[in-house]
Amino acid sequence: MDIILLGPPGAGKGTQAGRLEDEHGMIQLSTGDMLRAAVKAGTEVGLKAKALMEAGELVPDEVVSGIIGDRLDELGPEQGVIFDGYPRTAAQATALDEILSARGRSLDHVIELVVDEDALVARITGRFTCGKCGEGYHDTFKQPAKEGICDVCGSSEFKRRPDDTEETVRTRMQEYRGKTAPILPIYETRGIVRKVDGMGSMAQVNDEIEAALAL
Ligand code: AP5
Repeated sequence: MDIILLGPPGAGKGTQAGRLEDEHGMIQLSTGDMLRAAVKAGTEVGLKAKALMEAGELVPDEVVSGIIGDRLDELGPEQGVIFDGYPRTAAQATALDEILSARGRSLDHVIELVVDEDALVARITGRFTCGKCGEGYHDTFKQPAKEGICDVCGSSEFKRRPDDTEETVRTRMQEYRGKTAPILPIYETRGIVRKVDGMGSMAQVNDEIEAALAL
């Protein structure tokens, strides 16, 4: 099964993709994670992306579509994938159709996480991750069981994303409203959009997604 998780910054795409990966063996393809890895490694893609990401603006379509195609080529045809943060523009939606059909694949569902945007700034500005294993946490919604110690790997190093400031989040929201939300009708016309309430607890949202996907 190949699906898209669609929703504004902080809607819970990464959180829910991680759960689907852990519980159902799907593979999360997050363009944000791939771009952050490229920035860290100082690759050509990373150099193109760094300033745009820090400003909360979108990276050029051909860059992200290129990395998605390359990553899909590493996976077997039976491996279900979750597109997290891609596509984000009409041009990327068109590219994804071409990328999938060239590999004999097609989209099964688009999960739209419906959220209250006012709550998202708090979600994003409170987010932090383990610097060693990448486990995600939140100042209010998900703290480590022992303060300052990662539940998963025991590390005491944590980090925050440079684009998780209130000002940058506002720009990211504008990008979502102006460029990403308008692609939903493409998938609505195909009858593959499943709306899920993203404002429940992480477990409730996970349950709703599983029900929508009949998992
Ligand atoms: P990207 O990394 O994709 O960021 P984003 O879309 O802004 O999404 P986030 O990662 O901020 O949020 P999320 O929905 O995954 O929420 P999460 O689960 O973490 O992109 C970053 C940048 O890269 C872009 O701005 C752009 O520059 C570039 N980029 C990436 N893809 C691109 C593309 N295709 N084209 C062009 N440019 C691209 O949750 C957030 C927090 O809330 C967490 O702390 C979590 O613990 C908490 N939380 C989650 N769910 C719940 C819940 N139900 N209740 C309470 N708390 C919750």
